[in-house]
Amino acid sequence: MSFRILPVKTLLFLALCLSGRRGLASAPELKEQPKKIAVIGAGIGGTATAYYLRQEFGPEVKIDVFEAGTVGGRLATEKIGSDEYEMGGSIIHPLNLHMKHFVDLLGLSACKDVPGKMAVFDSEELIFEESDWFIVNFLRMLWRYGFNFLRMHMWVESLLDKFMRIYQYQQYGYSFSSVERLFHAMGGDDFVVLANKTLGEAMLEAGFSQNFLNDIVIPVTRFNYGQSVRINGFVGVISLSAMDSGLWAVNNGNKRVCSGLLYHSRAELIPAQVTSITFKLRPIKSGETVSLYEVSYTGESGSAHSMYDIVIVATPLHQELSKIAFSGFSPPIVSHFPGHYKQIVTTLVHGVLNTSFLGVTNDPSGFWVSNIFTKENKDISFYSLSSVDPVHIPDNYVRPPASAKKVWKLFSSQQLSEAQLGQIFLSWDAVRERKWLAYPIYMPPHQRPPFLLHDRLYYLNPIEWAASSMEMSALSARNVVLLAHHRWHGQESKIDQEDLHTRLRSEL
Ligand SMILES: Cc1cc2nc3c(=O)[nH]c(=O)nc-3n(C[C@H](O)[C@H](O)[C@H](O)COP(=O)(O)OP(=O)(O)OC[C@H]3O[C@@H](n4cnc5c(N)ncnc54)[C@H](O)[C@@H]3O)c2cc1C
Ligand SMILES: *[C@@H]1O[C@H](CO)[C@@H](O)[C@H](O)[C@H]1NC(C)=O
Ligand SMILES: *[C@@H]1O[C@H](CO)[C@@H](O)[C@H](O)[C@H]1NC(C)=O
Repeated sequence: MSFRILPVKTLLFLALCLSGRRGLASAPELKEQPKKIAVIGAGIGGTATAYYLRQEFGPEVKIDVFEAGTVGGRLATEKIGSDEYEMGGSIIHPLNLHMKHFVDLLGLSACKDVPGKMAVFDSEELIFEESDWFIVNFLRMLWRYGFNFLRMHMWVESLLDKFMRIYQYQQYGYSFSSVERLFHAMGGDDFVVLANKTLGEAMLEAGFSQNFLNDIVIPVTRFNYGQSVRINGFVGVISLSAMDSGLWAVNNGNKRVCSGLLYHSRAELIPAQVTSITFKLRPIKSGETVSLYEVSYTGESGSAHSMYDIVIVATPLHQELSKIAFSGFSPPIVSHFPGHYKQIVTTLVHGVLNTSFLGVTNDPSGFWVSNIFTKENKDISFYSLSSVDPVHIPDNYVRPPASAKKVWKLFSSQQLSEAQLGQIFLSWDAVRERKWLAYPIYMPPHQRPPFLLHDRLYYLNPIEWAASSMEMSALSARNVVLLAHHRWHGQESKIDQEDLHTRLRSEL
């Protein structure tokens, strides 16, 4: 008898192994790690993804990051003389905890925003100008806008409070399959509705005055997103939070975070353009089939392709931004989702400002305003004009006054002509320009693509339709990696949970 038991046990064991393999092959619910993961895009979203992938899936998995352009993506600098300046994403909010964590982890440092004053330009003069004195500002604001300013701060703060819950959820490993679910977890229906209506509607409902919207809120949203209060309420709040103090940037350039994360994750950077992602069934030894994603790409040394267990797309699938074809999927996946990205031209000018253009009659050496926002007005060719500091700020740096030749940054929708620059500047000796498809054109209510495009194919950038910023990309990276991890291991209880806020509070 014992003679027969052994083979039966062995057979059983083998059968288990085989069915185990099959389980892994068709739907990977066994606790074996994936072997190869591809990330497409090496901006802050893609590089943060690589970092979190290494953290969640361990040291063995091979991570390839494809980048068609330069590491950093929309985080990029330009040189004028010996100094570099941010051309894309530049300011970071003090409550952006993922960005803060990356900077600490990578041994980088933050440089604090050099304090400056803001003003609002209406095509003829500055209609609102901050003074050096807090009490003067306060009284001026009170006089013109009543308690709108104060209330705005409280309104923004109460919404940011809810937003901050996401960090706790992620700390506990919770993830969400769509932007709506994520928003619902943070602030319930109110939050979903906020992201589904315009900032103008939301603020008027909350009792803010139309005057305040026109004079202050629109100029700020023009500065941050090149759009008016027709943007959704959530991105509007993010935009208004940029008026808080304590804003910062990464010393030597924000893009350093991307190269740092890439290095830290020990991912391989493949400098190539991904042209297509194909869903493939492949026979394996046992006669079973395994499903994989084939990523085809074109680099300097020609075209090639590789197979992956998991693919994460970390670049917008809109317009001509990414040009990735999806094949073999049923239902099919489109390469361009509906919705457009806003063209923004960043122009750096090293020159002397013509303060008369702004209607300023005092001596320019006493003009210290560093951020000039603009009202919505067809006669103004730019959204904003700011005095900018280099990405590395030396000790005892003093920002020069407007009478000195220095670097100004303009955001506009179109390239600025020599004639237009000639109105704004008395003279200049260097101009740098960069055209972006910068962020979504927000026209709520939005249809946002899902984070999950297919079984093990994920997409990071739907988050941009809630708000586009470095922190949002990082937050989406963490979410998508957790989602990929839980789905791979069949941990449904960590996905799309309701009422986390109260549950986590009672767990503490
Ligand atoms: C002018 C401007 C000002 C901004 N200001 C701020 C700010 O002050 N603060 C802030 O937080 N945010 C700001 N933002 C927004 C912020 O920069 C972006 O939200 C963020 O950088 C997006 O990062 P990402 O990784 O998601 O996308 P991206 O940075 O766009 O990265 C995508 C990468 O994928 C690559 N890629 C695309 N297609 C392919 C392909 N087929 N194969 C391989 N690689 C591909 C691209 O080359 C790119 O490098 C600003 C943006 C702009 C343009
Ligand atoms: C978003 O707005 C649209 C149109 O106003 C509406 O049909 C939809 O129900 C809204 N969704 C949510 C979640 O509020
Ligand atoms: C400066 O701007 C004012 C007002 O727009 C204009 O009249 C003047 O000609 C400009 N000066 C120069 C030198 O361009």
